[in-house]
Amino acid sequence: MCGIIGYIGTKSAPNIILEGLRRLEYRGYDSAGLCILNNGKFELRKKTGRINDLAALLRQQPVTGTAGIGHTRWATHGPPTDQNAHPHLDQSGKIALVHNGVIENHQQLKERLLAKGHKFVSQTDTEVLAHLIGDYYAELQNCGSPDTRVGATTSTTDGAALTEAVRRALKDVVGTYGIAVVHADHPNVIVGARRGSPLLLGVGRDENFLASDVSAIIAHTRRVVYLNDFEIVTLARDDFQVSTIEAAAVSPQIREVEFAAEEVERGKFPHFMLKEIFEQPRAVENAFRGRISHQEGTARLGGLNLTPAELRAVDRMILIGCGTALHAAMVGEFLMEDLARIPTEIDCASECRYRNAPVEKNTLVFAISQSGETIDSLAAVREFRRKGHKTLGIVNVVGSTIAREVDGGTYMHAGPEIGVAATKTFTSQLTILTLLAVLMGRMRHLAATRGTEILKELEQIPGKMERILQQSAAIAAIAKKYCEANSFLFLARQYNFPIALEGALKLKEISYIHAEGYPAAEMKHGPIALVDPRTPSVFICTKNAVYDKVMANIEEVKARKGPVIAVASEGDEEIRKKADDVIYIPDTIDCLQPLLTVVPLQLLAYHIAILRGCDVDKPRNLAKSVTVE
Ligand code: G6P
Repeated sequence: MCGIIGYIGTKSAPNIILEGLRRLEYRGYDSAGLCILNNGKFELRKKTGRINDLAALLRQQPVTGTAGIGHTRWATHGPPTDQNAHPHLDQSGKIALVHNGVIENHQQLKERLLAKGHKFVSQTDTEVLAHLIGDYYAELQNCGSPDTRVGATTSTTDGAALTEAVRRALKDVVGTYGIAVVHADHPNVIVGARRGSPLLLGVGRDENFLASDVSAIIAHTRRVVYLNDFEIVTLARDDFQVSTIEAAAVSPQIREVEFAAEEVERGKFPHFMLKEIFEQPRAVENAFRGRISHQEGTARLGGLNLTPAELRAVDRMILIGCGTALHAAMVGEFLMEDLARIPTEIDCASECRYRNAPVEKNTLVFAISQSGETIDSLAAVREFRRKGHKTLGIVNVVGSTIAREVDGGTYMHAGPEIGVAATKTFTSQLTILTLLAVLMGRMRHLAATRGTEILKELEQIPGKMERILQQSAAIAAIAKKYCEANSFLFLARQYNFPIALEGALKLKEISYIHAEGYPAAEMKHGPIALVDPRTPSVFICTKNAVYDKVMANIEEVKARKGPVIAVASEGDEEIRKKADDVIYIPDTIDCLQPLLTVVPLQLLAYHIAILRGCDVDKPRNLAKSVTVE
């Protein structure tokens, strides 16, 4: 939630910041703003709406300068208004701050500052932090700290007082933050800090950057330093210093990131979501490439950092995630129990972090997260680690916080996912969970022949996905028939039950139609009351162990005049007699069906949302990376 960027160098800061904000827009898009430093003066521009609205404002009221900070907001405290947009200023009007996170004790801090005569103009927690930093800065000035000299030098020493003021303020803060701070009198430095919210430093030649994520700066540099919690960085054009909040020096590790700038372009697709749906065959391939051993009928996942003996000793697994990643975890539970016979539990991260569940010694915890930054998933990982459990991650974003904090894990290699609604990373997660289940199974009861059979079939999935994608236009025609509906049911059983949940989530997220995912038989205990001629039910009714059961559930809906859209196996003529519309998909073994059945549901949601005129890449109220509780 919220994206922040900072730039200090020799080029046009407004251009670089605006371009970076466009890349970060998926993190929040209700308002945006920037502050440019120019000859000891601030130029502040803030606007409700999208980055394009901020760009329009900048065309009317241009700014120039070679240093500054910017922000794209997802509101937590205070509605999206120009006033509440970041950057926020302190009492002196000389300090500007952008913030991602939540200052939980903002009310107490505000009262303290109000008592000292501070005046606030917004309803945000962030403005309180700006004032608090300003208050400490003023205190340092009153003590005659030489480092408060105006524009003292061009290096990071110029910012010593600002850094110190930030440090003192953050010690008073309870909550999470990724921040970037500038001072009009110290135009040669930007100060950044993080706790809980992501922040990285981009190291360039004669220029340096701060950003919530690497996509914002990748066009300029590949050399990054991922800041850790409680670290503060002071950036100058040609220098940077990292220290802890306790003022201990830190030797930062500069990493080269692999990331092609073109990967964050839409190319020939009208939306990132559609591009990413179509990238799934490649994403699945990238997830299993080099990880399959046909000879041994098993998978190789080197990054787990666990010996075969340690993996063999696991007698329970907990899979955690949020949103779409949680649905992947649910499929993972089926895979792990079916193929590896390991009792497996899934938990949504926000619940499990506060639930004091008993967890035995040989339990392995897996966090599944595209971004690797979802605050609840991260907090759950930390809680399990604190209790001494091994935690592993299935993560897409290399170098993200979860990836860095877990004991080991597997990267998805799905490439950047920009559409807010997750698609290709979901099927990538399913692929890795399949590999994991085969690996764990082969250490237990799974025969080599069965392992080989599953893995060979997994290698066929990309080709089969391509065949489903070719039906996009036919699915659009079905979407047209049903796009006026106010409510949908998604029904399936067994392996496909989590896909019913995912299909409903996709539709809700991007088309704002109410949708419920349910186990097909369980619908008789409630949702069947919703069935009427205006409420379509989407059934996943592929050829598998529960085919006949699902067919019977379809009859129950038809008997109540509910329209039925079925996702069925190619060659199934029977289903045509029952369903109003059928989307045929290639056949595969039961445990791999979710990889295919989800694709038509993603396309259905996409086309319905387009027909309803929704912004599929940036659905209202949502953000791609949820870094607040
Ligand atoms: C947000 C996104 C979802 C995503 C979820 C978990 O809600 O809109 O698409 O599934 O966060 O994100 P993660 O990065 O942890 O997979």
